[in-house]
Amino acid sequence: MCGIVGYVGKNNAKTVVLEGLEKLEYRGYDSAGIAVVKDGALKVEKRCGKLQNLIEHLQTIDMSSDVGIGHTRWATHGEPSDINSHPHFSMDKKIAVVHNGIIENYLPLKNELIEKGYRFISETDTEVVVHLIDSMYNGDMLKTVAEVVKVLKGSYALAILDVNNPEEIICTRKDSPLVIGIGEGENIIASDIPALLKYTNKVVYLNDFEIATVRKNKVEVFDKELNAIQFEVKVVDWSYDQATKNGFPNYMLKEIHEQSSIVQKMLSSYLNGGDFTFANLFSTIDLKRYTKIHLVACGTAYHVGLQAKYFFNEISKMDAKVEIASEYRYQNNFIDDRTLAIFISQSGETLDTISALKKAKEEGATTLAITNVVGSTITREADITLYTLAGPEIAVASTKAYTSQVLVMYLFSLFLAEKIGKLERKEEKIAELKRLCELLKVENEDEIKFSEIVKKLENAKDAFFIGRGIDYYSSLEGALKLKEISYIHTEAFPAGELKHGSIALIEEGTPVIVVGTQDNLIEKTISNLKELKARGAYIISIGKKEYEDMKNSSDIFIGVDVVSQILSIFSVIVPMQLIACYTSMKKGLDVDKPRNLAKSVTVE
Ligand code: G6P
Repeated sequence: MCGIVGYVGKNNAKTVVLEGLEKLEYRGYDSAGIAVVKDGALKVEKRCGKLQNLIEHLQTIDMSSDVGIGHTRWATHGEPSDINSHPHFSMDKKIAVVHNGIIENYLPLKNELIEKGYRFISETDTEVVVHLIDSMYNGDMLKTVAEVVKVLKGSYALAILDVNNPEEIICTRKDSPLVIGIGEGENIIASDIPALLKYTNKVVYLNDFEIATVRKNKVEVFDKELNAIQFEVKVVDWSYDQATKNGFPNYMLKEIHEQSSIVQKMLSSYLNGGDFTFANLFSTIDLKRYTKIHLVACGTAYHVGLQAKYFFNEISKMDAKVEIASEYRYQNNFIDDRTLAIFISQSGETLDTISALKKAKEEGATTLAITNVVGSTITREADITLYTLAGPEIAVASTKAYTSQVLVMYLFSLFLAEKIGKLERKEEKIAELKRLCELLKVENEDEIKFSEIVKKLENAKDAFFIGRGIDYYSSLEGALKLKEISYIHTEAFPAGELKHGSIALIEEGTPVIVVGTQDNLIEKTISNLKELKARGAYIISIGKKEYEDMKNSSDIFIGVDVVSQILSIFSVIVPMQLIACYTSMKKGLDVDKPRNLAKSVTVE
């Protein structure tokens, strides 16, 4: 979703803002813009399309200034266009605003403003904010913003630039992320940390309704009544290098390669011999009291929830259900104080997931957040947070966040099982974990197979994924990866279900990816594979190396090692991620920034 960057300090604001916006491109956007104060006047430039359009447009324009705000817009109200792009500005061009979120009451506010004589040039909800600030201006911008936000309904992160006060940027937020990077002789605001990392790793997370004034040498944070707040500066252990491609053609491929070392790092951080180092987080909680577990998330994180459900059922012997956050927040979930509700979110900013968490908390559940981003909104809402330690994930299609989330869930299921006296064969299970790093290594020997698969997929209209049991959950993630970056229509089915309708879609040459790692189910999966083959499907199998029948019945077979049935996702995920990545590359698509998608979904 939209990205905000603001800068005030010793460097050229235009350069810092554009670099920052580049780092936020992964969030998804369709236009970009920038505003600076130069020679006592506001200069605003905006361009529809890629950020590069704006960068090229700005090459001949002098915008050097020490203060500026910029924005990448993901259209909600009004089509992507130069006019609808942010920043929006007041009629006298004295005030500029960038916004992430949705102002839900923009229409009545707009009508009131029109009656007062304000002219709107865009179709956006954001333009209401800038005219509202202008109409309510009382000589003090901070006080004005405090009054304006009392009128706004919906979600927002806002950054405001005022020609009459060019030394500072005012920013505020509700339900949309905003962080302030604390530098030396310079300060930066941004929607996410990668945009700041070149300049600082010291950050302040704004909470809902807080308002900050950001100057070159000073940052102040106030509550909604404008009482000054003592804020905490956190140090993020991410580096600028982690947010670069490091020689890879795209971030996704780089992040796929990182998975093995991330798992290693997580295991050494979270396991000390047979002890779980995160145990202290639960020291005041009696885990025996919980009778049910809810797992709630969106997108890829939802697929982690499915794997985790299996872990809780099989290892902790607990009742667990998985729900999509946007559904969970509007339905009766029969929560009580014996419910442990787990919310999984890479960014920690997904609006639906956070809202679902707030609801579960209100209804009496204990809430546990699993996230990758230190200090993100979800960490401030949840009772307990467990981090995934995956480092910044830039590609929209999630890879390393997925595997690290699955690992955290597995470790937590072991820990929970131990605490409630259900854990069996602990040593064996811990020993198995040590082999996961090997499974996640990207081997080059399969390259020929991958190029054959890509050849088959690049012109395909549809592709289906099937599997049984936990392999079905893995298939769902494989299908999502391929769909989102190659634009091939994909669907995943439990292998036994395909014949109840969807088998009608199988034609000569339709690619079907079959996932098979479960000894107790493989014969049945192979029968389904054969049913598909008999109807012309082109079978690409990912299965245990020793499954000869699967190999012989498939057009292409990728044989994998499996350390244990329950951990099979770690064996099959890399081939599925690579299939998606290579197919997208072959089709010449933007692997990291697929059309219409956003990395961090901060609207409903
Ligand atoms: C978007 C992203 C997905 C992600 C989902 C949930 O759809 O494109 O990759 O899985 O949001 O995001 P979260 O940050 O909550 O894990």
